[in-house]
Amino acid sequence: MPTKVALVFGGVSPEHAISCLTAASVLGAIDRSRYDVVGIGIAKSGRWTQVPLEEIADYRIVDGVEPAVREPDDDAVFMVTEQGAEVATRAGENLLDIRGVDVAFALLHGPFGEDGTLQGMFEMMGIRYVGCGVTSSAVGMDKQYMRIAFEAAGLPVGPYVIASDHRWRHFPDAVLAEVGALQFPVFVKPCRGGSSIGISRVENAAGLADAIEEARRFDPKVIIEEGIDGREIECAVLGNPDTPDGCEASPLGEVRVLTEDKFYDYRTKYFDEDGAALDIPAALDVDVAARIQTLAKRAFHALDCEGLARADFFVTDDGEIYINEVNTMPGFTEISMFPLLWQSTGMTYAELVGRLIDLAVGRNAGLR
Ligand SMILES: Nc1ncnc2c1ncn2[C@@H]1O[C@H](COP(=O)(O)OP(=O)(O)O)[C@@H](O)[C@H]1O
Ligand SMILES: [Mg+2]
Repeated sequence: MPTKVALVFGGVSPEHAISCLTAASVLGAIDRSRYDVVGIGIAKSGRWTQVPLEEIADYRIVDGVEPAVREPDDDAVFMVTEQGAEVATRAGENLLDIRGVDVAFALLHGPFGEDGTLQGMFEMMGIRYVGCGVTSSAVGMDKQYMRIAFEAAGLPVGPYVIASDHRWRHFPDAVLAEVGALQFPVFVKPCRGGSSIGISRVENAAGLADAIEEARRFDPKVIIEEGIDGREIECAVLGNPDTPDGCEASPLGEVRVLTEDKFYDYRTKYFDEDGAALDIPAALDVDVAARIQTLAKRAFHALDCEGLARADFFVTDDGEIYINEVNTMPGFTEISMFPLLWQSTGMTYAELVGRLIDLAVGRNAGLR
């Protein structure tokens, strides 16, 4: 019997379109003789719907217009039944297209998808799912708690300041004074964001308040980090229960940003083909590369990750390494860094998709 896999995509985060593109990529690569696929789209309104596979396969950017899950006429419902988890479409009082779900593959980035909320729903329903669990997803989404976990594990983190909603509204001068002790430029970010949305590079104190307000459009909690003048190096980590470390680190990739604003922003990530170069493998001394791979595996465990994660670093000219973040659902289209890094070892995109699903099938539902 083929494993019944639910691809879940779309979502209410600003990364909706990327998620749709990822769903098209994964669907194109998934081995349909081994896996029975059901497409579950979350429309921008938050409504859930079963999406025909032909529709998913068609998601692409046309003349700059991003794909989106169409607002549904009929909503999808999830149920826990004697046979396990099922999804169906509600048509008035009736249920249509009732399908079993063994494993979920959530191709969602950002809040309400990558942040543990959806993982919690799967846990409650007894559905196995690809990738990180509730805690690691939640910690990986929150740039404050992620840093606390890194620091506790002894990983090198740059200086930062947190502007909580309370502190910013009531004690903005104290926040600005604290930030004033950092070296400029600083990066101002929504604490729980992704795809560089809401992030500004700020050259001096005069630009701070506006940048904090901009980040607050996306999250009332803001992080301000000292800018690190270094190369951006990324490492893909895959869970592997057969190794002593429990995971494997890929060769490293470098993101070289070629645009004028000098950081890897939203447009550069997804829309500007010439905005950044991905160098695989990154040109690094072997010992620096080995240190980064070790740090990537330590970061995977610091957040208690499962299945997959991408760890991102800065490396300065004098060889100092800082960890920037771990993404528990890294960019996963066929031209994204994570799959490309594994491809450089000979693992195809289709093999990677199969391996992630098999890892999910192989682990227990519930506490692990
Ligand atoms: N402390 C920093 N120093 C230098 N560049 C940074 C720093 N923080 C972020 N950046 C730049 O901004 C980009 C996005 O920041 P990041 O923290 O990775 O956010 P996201 O979670 O949205 O990917 C990074 O890829 C890098 O180009
Ligand atoms: Mg990033």
